[in-house]
Amino acid sequence: MKGLTLILLLGILGCCYGVWDPNKARIVCYFSNWAIYREGIGRYGIEDIPGSKCTHIVYSFVGVSNVTWEILILDQENDVDKMGFANFTALPQQYPGLQTMLAIGGWGEGGKKYSQMAGVPERRRSLIRSIVEYMNRYGFHGFDLDWEYPGATDRGGTFKDKDNFLLLDAIHVMTYDLRGNWAGFADVHSPLYKRPFDQYAYEKLNVICPHVQNETSGWTRKFDDIGKCPYAYRGCTMGRLRGCR
Ligand SMILES: *[C@@H]1O[C@H](CO)[C@@H](O)[C@H](O)[C@H]1NC(C)=O
Ligand SMILES: *[C@@H]1O[C@H](CO)[C@@H](O)[C@H](O)[C@H]1NC(C)=O
Ligand SMILES: *[C@@H]1O[C@H](CO)[C@@H](O)[C@H](O)[C@H]1NC(C)=O
Repeated sequence: MKGLTLILLLGILGCCYGVWDPNKARIVCYFSNWAIYREGIGRYGIEDIPGSKCTHIVYSFVGVSNVTWEILILDQENDVDKMGFANFTALPQQYPGLQTMLAIGGWGEGGKKYSQMAGVPERRRSLIRSIVEYMNRYGFHGFDLDWEYPGATDRGGTFKDKDNFLLLDAIHVMTYDLRGNWAGFADVHSPLYKRPFDQYAYEKLNVICPHVQNETSGWTRKFDDIGKCPYAYRGCTMGRLRGCR
């Protein structure tokens, strides 16, 4: 996985923190705190983040406790003892206007706890309280919920997740990570078409899947010059983000 990846924004309702202009496109960069454990030149730390290229940076990940339903620090040594959080939220001093966010969830956390949390009001309140406390303690401007995935019954979710899932501010759409060390081979992250060897879910995880290719289905196809990858969206233009479907 890349240490820092670009994420596209599809929908936005306006930001709650700072002086962010909601009509401006966001360039959201994701930082994985485990990238420092890579060997040699693969190591990627907070000091490597090209803050001037991003409008928002997201620190991943913290988890949720299935006992207290509060934030669970996943790497105490790196995040807290060695000041990962503090160094990260100090980046706007170097890059004025940069918004820092803390991400909760991720693939390793699974979907079950998030489904169990979202389904019970008291658990939601507990997590929200804890998130606000952490944001204040370390100076994050916002937070990012990376629940993988609401409604995914194969990952411990339920169909009711959709009703329990309230979108607050913006949606960050992952545009990377299709291939990784789990694949056993190297390949592009955003293939235009299905590869001959793609099977199961991978058959549709490409840009020009038949649905997007269908001229009457309303998808707009674009190329992202910064992330150097193609993408598609439907229901709104990138310049007019309000009121998107
Ligand atoms: C909480 O998570 C731990 C670790 O994943 C698991 O062993 C335990 O069964 C879970 N407890 C509940 C109440 O779900
Ligand atoms: C945070 O910054 C300090 C001072 O530059 C450095 O010693 C430390 O290793 C950094 N920690 C992380 C996790 O980047
Ligand atoms: C294309 O989309 C339209 C409208 O959604 C649908 O009626 C049609 O069957 C689709 N065509 C193909 C080839 O999928």
